[in-house]
Amino acid sequence: MPVIEIQPSIYWIGVNDHTTDLFEGIWPITQEGVSYNSYLIDGEKKVLIDLAKSIKADQFFRQISEICEISQLDYIVLNHMEPDHTGTLGLLWKLAPQATILCTPQAQPMVESFYGITERVQPVDDGETINLGQLTLKFFHTPFVHWPETMMTYETSSRTLFSCDAFGSYGALSGTIFDDQLNDFDFYLKQALRYYVNIVAKFSSMVTRAIQKLADIPIKIIAPSHGLIWKNDPQKIVDLYQTWARLANGKGDRAVTLVYGSMYGNTEEMMDAVAQGVAQAGIPVEIFDLRRTHFSYILPALWLHQGVIIGAPTYETALFPLAVQLLDLCHRKAIKNKKVAYFGSFGWSGGGQRELEKWATELKWELTDTLVFRGAATLEDLKKGQQFGREFAKMLKEDLV
Ligand code: FEO
Repeated sequence: MPVIEIQPSIYWIGVNDHTTDLFEGIWPITQEGVSYNSYLIDGEKKVLIDLAKSIKADQFFRQISEICEISQLDYIVLNHMEPDHTGTLGLLWKLAPQATILCTPQAQPMVESFYGITERVQPVDDGETINLGQLTLKFFHTPFVHWPETMMTYETSSRTLFSCDAFGSYGALSGTIFDDQLNDFDFYLKQALRYYVNIVAKFSSMVTRAIQKLADIPIKIIAPSHGLIWKNDPQKIVDLYQTWARLANGKGDRAVTLVYGSMYGNTEEMMDAVAQGVAQAGIPVEIFDLRRTHFSYILPALWLHQGVIIGAPTYETALFPLAVQLLDLCHRKAIKNKKVAYFGSFGWSGGGQRELEKWATELKWELTDTLVFRGAATLEDLKKGQQFGREFAKMLKEDLV
């Protein structure tokens, strides 16, 4: 996509990635794609802000060349070292012999370890400014949004915040780059949440700290390094981030994430009865089949909703492995303070419930109810399942009043 001037002398020179299937080697983006937004200031000094993944090098260098010769670059600002934003650095470094890298002191050793670069690297302090003539850059250290070396860069005259991962989303840009020129705005909001929960949410307290740090800065445009540029309503994504970050410690909304797996359909049949009970009690339920849904798409619901119901059979005297993998990921991603109920079928010995109880303790989730049954559910079992769902939903309603 040709470059776009987002403010006088400031250009979006990003690239779309429709090739990568798994972001970070984990999170599916085959359908959605992703953008690596990079920015070029073409003033008295020529400054590049964040780069692109290495597989996009040709396209990325062509984007720069639309504005200036690569060899003319004066500064390369690295807000964050993850290679989706620095993968082209090694080559760029050779093509821009006058350029100085600006990054946090924490990023400096990473510039060496990732790219073997030790010269022309200038660490910047928190709050430090660099005068570019008519424009001025100010740097704000924002550790752990997403890695410890992360910072954001603010251009003072245009009031543009280059926020890197923060406020970004999955989803390649579809013809436009701004939040006010879309007809699929909800898609990007959904992808912003998925990106937040997959990538950033573990560090939610640092997100809150970063937002507090930036609170007094007048922001006209938020230009992240993935997804939409927030020009029409930058406060919207900041507010969403504040809400999502608060969920790390607080209660979620009054809704249920029902996650289930099944080997031969017995636990699945019970799932329908349980879901019916939850819905009858007037509580929304989002249902995910573990066998067919990547965890990336389940985590956002788990993050948002207070209630979790796990339906999983016993498998070789323990819990169905896909459920275990999900719970392990919840632990790694620090999804806390949930109310959980468990149901599942067993063939001969049981054991799924026992393992689920261990995970609930590990995760500090409150296990409120369990329902296990042997083999296929009888009609009586299914009625119990319906009641189990109703009771869980009722408890959730009362708990969150
Ligand atoms: Fe978009 Fe943490 O990299």
